Amino acid sequence: MCSSSVILPPSPAPFKGQPSEDTAPVLTGGRRRPYKLSERSGTALIQEGSNAMSSWGLKNRLARIIRPATGRTVMLAVDHGYFLGPTSGLESPAETIAPLAPYADTLMLTRGVLRSSVDPRVDVPIVLRVSGGTSILSELSNEGVVTTMEDAVRLNASGVALSIYVGSPYERQTLLSLAALVDDGERHGIPVLAVTAVGKDMARDARYLALACRIAAELGAHFVKTYYCDNFEHVVRTCPVPVVIAGGKKLPEKEALELAASAVRDGASGVDMGRNIFQSVNPVAMIQAVRAVVHGDATAAQAYELFKSLQRPAPRKARAKARAKR
Ligand code: R5P
Repeated sequence: MCSSSVILPPSPAPFKGQPSEDTAPVLTGGRRRPYKLSERSGTALIQEGSNAMSSWGLKNRLARIIRPATGRTVMLAVDHGYFLGPTSGLESPAETIAPLAPYADTLMLTRGVLRSSVDPRVDVPIVLRVSGGTSILSELSNEGVVTTMEDAVRLNASGVALSIYVGSPYERQTLLSLAALVDDGERHGIPVLAVTAVGKDMARDARYLALACRIAAELGAHFVKTYYCDNFEHVVRTCPVPVVIAGGKKLPEKEALELAASAVRDGASGVDMGRNIFQSVNPVAMIQAVRAVVHGDATAAQAYELFKSLQRPAPRKARAKARAKR
């Protein structure tokens, strides 16, 4: 994966790890931070010699998702249709995913969209959403496991994801499903991502999110996805496995980049971002800007400049276009 080469226009103020102009941002070339696993975010679990995960296959798959070079990941979440139907920007999943896949460390999606809408020759790790069975029209917490681990193996998934609904009517059912899925994942060497779904009545604050993340980790989840919040350090510090953040509803690009930068600053192992990428005015530019934050330690301001510069046509192309108009 990540083999595509993109010619960048002259970039704004340099940031740590920023690649040179003639290389794709973060994907190819460019200085990377030295191999450093963050114990704070629990990424040390994948270190060689750790007993925390006994399966080589499981560690290997997790290392495909959370990049060892930075200890972080840019997951592209395109699983929204599993309960929302044709979400804006994802009406035609194939069209949305194809240009973004080269910039994603991982695609998070359902088996239906994977089979129907992703070219099997694409070299990008897959985290398969395996929980579902409800819709936006019903009680969302009443989810079950809708895809077997055997199917995940058949689909060459690098991980599986399931939502837990702590504090919701079907809390127990979703937590027991998580525990069973972890058993199954351990048997097959496939890491499990617990997604902390937040019910309508729940506050997205550090107290609640730390509770949900910690329960997920206690039940054996190998990594957890949650939301960014005030005092997010508390959520990360009290969760012994890596934590990634969802993007949530669409924000202006600058704010979405600030969200990502704050999250990694506060210990997140990256993002599992959907709408703030695929609903952007320029999704391909946006995912590259997010990568600059997550893997290049760019500030939000630097990443936003990158986003804007990627929207401008390359100078030579612009000149050719102007000439053609004359
Ligand atoms: C929701 O449960 C879905 O799993 C999405 O993957 C998740 O919400 C992340 O997407 P977004 O960044 O759009 O919130």
